Amino acid sequence: MRKDEIFQKRLDRHHDELRWLYMELYQNGDMFAELCDNLYRFYSERSAGLRKRDVQREKDPEWFKRNDMLGMMLYIDNFAGNLSGVEAKLPYLESCGVNCIHLMPFLDSPKGRSDGGYAVADFRKVKPELGTMEELAHLADACHEKGMNLCMDFVMNHTSEDHEWARRARRGEGEYMSRYFFFDTDEIPKKYEETVPQVFPTTAPGNFTWLPDAGHYVMTTFYPYQWDLNYRNPRVFNEMMYNFLFLANQGMDIIRIDAVPYIWKELGTQCRNLPQVHTIVRMMRMIGEIVCPSVLLLGEVVMEPEKVAPYFGTVEKPECHMLYNVTTMATIWNTVATKDVRLLRKQMDIVYALPKKYTFLNYLRCHDDIGWGLDYETLKEWGMEEIPHKRFLNDYFTGKIPGSVSRGELYNDDPVTCDARFCGTTASMCGVESAEFEKDEEKLEDAIRLDLMLHAYILCQSGIPMLYSGDEIGQVNDYSYKDDPDKAADSRYIHRGRFCWELEKKRDDKESMQGKIFQGLKRLEEIRKTEDVFGSSAEVYTYDVHNASVLCIMRRTESDRFFGIFNFSGRDETAWMKEDGKFINLLTGEKTAVENIVVPGHSFCWIKSQV
Ligand code: GLC
Repeated sequence: MRKDEIFQKRLDRHHDELRWLYMELYQNGDMFAELCDNLYRFYSERSAGLRKRDVQREKDPEWFKRNDMLGMMLYIDNFAGNLSGVEAKLPYLESCGVNCIHLMPFLDSPKGRSDGGYAVADFRKVKPELGTMEELAHLADACHEKGMNLCMDFVMNHTSEDHEWARRARRGEGEYMSRYFFFDTDEIPKKYEETVPQVFPTTAPGNFTWLPDAGHYVMTTFYPYQWDLNYRNPRVFNEMMYNFLFLANQGMDIIRIDAVPYIWKELGTQCRNLPQVHTIVRMMRMIGEIVCPSVLLLGEVVMEPEKVAPYFGTVEKPECHMLYNVTTMATIWNTVATKDVRLLRKQMDIVYALPKKYTFLNYLRCHDDIGWGLDYETLKEWGMEEIPHKRFLNDYFTGKIPGSVSRGELYNDDPVTCDARFCGTTASMCGVESAEFEKDEEKLEDAIRLDLMLHAYILCQSGIPMLYSGDEIGQVNDYSYKDDPDKAADSRYIHRGRFCWELEKKRDDKESMQGKIFQGLKRLEEIRKTEDVFGSSAEVYTYDVHNASVLCIMRRTESDRFFGIFNFSGRDETAWMKEDGKFINLLTGEKTAVENIVVPGHSFCWIKSQV
């Protein structure tokens, strides 16, 4: 098919629905026509290589659902200095088995007012110290040659106050003021504050910022230097779509839509998850399918499960391709602290009841804090009240409770709601940091066991496992952020430390902590990749083993049965179960019976049926 015909076919497929939704939101045919012209422009500007990728992936739309996908998220500067440094380190990532790299925010953003790069001043410019757009595109090419995918953030809810639009708005140019939420008195801001919760209650209270030089308030849901964009203005939508397509054309495979639930504001509401948000995401999905169908949308929806799943859209009208399994993540850490698997089991039953076509990113840690978004109604039934339970979790993970080996810090500790969140690396939370400090070999072994058990848990879920850079070598908390005045107030930097290449050298030394974690993980990843039972088409259930500290996950395909048995307590525990047939322990290769299996403290088994 000719180039133009391909575009036309894709446009035809979506045109009516796209136009319908656009007109419903904006009632502006001219702006819609402009959008369509630009879709064609971005399509024509897409490189031949990327267009080929589009066609291939259109034929294989399930490509990202295979069990060979393994992601890692990393900060370019922490990992390798700059973009060309990352390219030079691709062989390392390959050796980790990673084929999907999420580059943390790298677009131009003002130093000291960047929210870790989530305050973008220019969507078309890389931070000079990290490199250039050309280097980004070069890195994407290099990744593609190695069969790797590249992911980046698209921060669409807000811009930095240094973005050109914001600067012009501040100067009083009406056209640009209308791209944000400007108010000359506090009357409406006050009304919003009545219903809109706060994202950073301690580090950035309130949802508005007074601009003395402009004589206006501006809406700032996140930090005061992050100005919320006004998507009621079709100019904002169109221009942001052009930015999205521009970035996609640099060779991105996955675009993470940051803070997506927040993008539509309505007085009298919480300004989260409004129906118009879904209209916009649905339009983005169609726009992507028209211009760059090989690009996936990953929604960042850090909310309770009933709010998350709607971002997949419906079968006929899909929205995001992938979402984070955020409640599972928080519930896993809850289970580490309570050693009681009931809540996690309930959570997994919810996840497993969802359609199998939903793809989740499963992870233990990411660049953000852990907000304790748990099912408190259920916990309450079991005698655990929300506020004291959150306090328990935070005390546990900061190592204040006897027997807790975790280390880390609180985040946005709000004295009013007692709603502190938590920061720390996986290894520190598992006890590696405290054991190394105490030079206690036995504790260290236990911490390594727990760390690997949690990773084994993540790796036996359907979807894409996402590692956090440094976790593969058990990197612990980095307290040096306290010496940097730009970072000191934000404890999330405790787990955003520099990747330690000195320690990475020990990854092949099986006697070292780094080696044990790295090799252990590698083995799990290889098993996951080669065994069909980990494919997304498997049926997955929780399986009762009659032990409050042991969770068993069963995966089943036509030919295989798999049991993942995870002991969250520190002692030996028995999984009370009996299954007929022949089985093999996937880690040791030994034959085994599935009958009342004893699992050592903080350990796990992966067992598969043998035909
Ligand atoms: C997302 C990011 C977080 C950032 C926020 C504002 O939640 O993960 O790091 O602070 O968006 O952009």
